[in-house]
Amino acid sequence: MARRITAPRIQRMKGKGKKVVMVTAYDATFARLVDSADVDAVLVGDSLGNVIQGHETTLPVTLEEMIYHTRCVSRGLTRPLLVGDLPFLSYQASVEQAVISAGRLMKEGRANAVKLEGGACMAKAVRRLVDIGIPVMGHIGLTPQSVHAFGGMKIQGREDQRAEQILADAKALEEAGVFSIVLEGLPTPLAKRVTESVEVPTIGISAGPHCDGQVLVLYDMLALDETFKPRFVKHYASMGATVVDALNRFSSEVREGAFPDEEHSFE
Ligand code: KIV
Repeated sequence: MARRITAPRIQRMKGKGKKVVMVTAYDATFARLVDSADVDAVLVGDSLGNVIQGHETTLPVTLEEMIYHTRCVSRGLTRPLLVGDLPFLSYQASVEQAVISAGRLMKEGRANAVKLEGGACMAKAVRRLVDIGIPVMGHIGLTPQSVHAFGGMKIQGREDQRAEQILADAKALEEAGVFSIVLEGLPTPLAKRVTESVEVPTIGISAGPHCDGQVLVLYDMLALDETFKPRFVKHYASMGATVVDALNRFSSEVREGAFPDEEHSFE
């Protein structure tokens, strides 16, 4: 069996100039496919609220749901680091709440690390998690759990004051002990500045090419929903069209009596 990629190994990749490659996954079947590809980390993101559950935002996702999907993914994964995402209001209330929720994602969900949104305001919780042996991935910029405060999914840090705040957030997370930081929805020059100002790897989504790694939502990059094509998403396959085509061929063959034929039947 291939050796598991660890959080310290992801952290060291920056010093070696190696890009970190991360994708999301939500079930064992996709996890197995990702496992057989050259990917460093798998994030069971609370984006499952959008792509699995059909919600408008990630806010309704519960800790129980995250634990369930993380455990499903863990059964299909042998090599990439498995990162479980802490959902809205499972860690912001207190350091104790963060410890219990992160602990459950590791213990019941079998995550190797957790991710949480927020910068300086989460530093105390991050420090405590790291102190008790839970590797933490930070997430700053356009943090989707704050979509209502931002007034929509808007690129962050175009104004000087907000840009300085994002830089300070990255520094605070690094000092608190995160092994990497997701930068989401930042102008390219700001993501570059943040990346140059911290020693832990930054993993970008909608943050330009200068981050130390990149992450995409698996369903987006495979174009399972062809109508969802924001500028930062690249379609590496046309899975949505392939699925509809397969379903239509099945439907025609059933209606014509061509399926099942002898080859797919028992005597
Ligand atoms: O929930 C998620 O999938 C994420 C990534 C987009 C970084 O947070």
